[in-house]
Amino acid sequence: MILRQAALAIFFAITFPATVALAHGDGAPQPVDTTGLEPLGDEWRATNPYRNDKKQHDIAVEIGSRGYNSNCARCHGLEAKSGGMAPDLRELGETESEDAWFISRVLQGAVVSGRQKMPPFEGLLNQEAIWAIRTYIDAQPQ
Ligand code: HEC
Repeated sequence: MILRQAALAIFFAITFPATVALAHGDGAPQPVDTTGLEPLGDEWRATNPYRNDKKQHDIAVEIGSRGYNSNCARCHGLEAKSGGMAPDLRELGETESEDAWFISRVLQGAVVSGRQKMPPFEGLLNQEAIWAIRTYIDAQPQ
């Protein structure tokens, strides 16, 4: 019986490594404390509200750094320098359509050929946290 359970555990570890990692709390999405940023409300902004906000920009970079490192870096790379596993997010420009693309990807995640390549963050990260992460990425040198 114990052997059978061990065999099953090994089977699952090989077949569903991501599931096993998540079950151990490794790589699970982390909430981001956005204290210090003015609340943006429920309506989604069309563009990054912190980009040209002299007062909030640096706070956003700091909060975004924490949010990025705990939720995105394991795939998109430390300091937003991609190691090739996921796109280099510094290459996204700062236009309105690229802001919209960023938000939609982060909320919905990415499924490629039926496989979940990136988890959805809807309901886990609020608007302030997501725009702060965007501000942090844009502040990294190319
Ligand atoms: C489990 C790995 C993983 C995690 C964690 C992850 N991503 Fe991704 N992300 C990917 C992959 C893979 C793609 C490319 C999907 C595709 O091929 O369409 C992607 C695509 C994106 C894109 C679209 C990029 C483009 O140039 O089209 C954005 C924006 C993005 N991710 C932002 C984020 C942010 C912000 C976080 C953290 C909050 C995050 N991702 C967390 C794996 C991940």
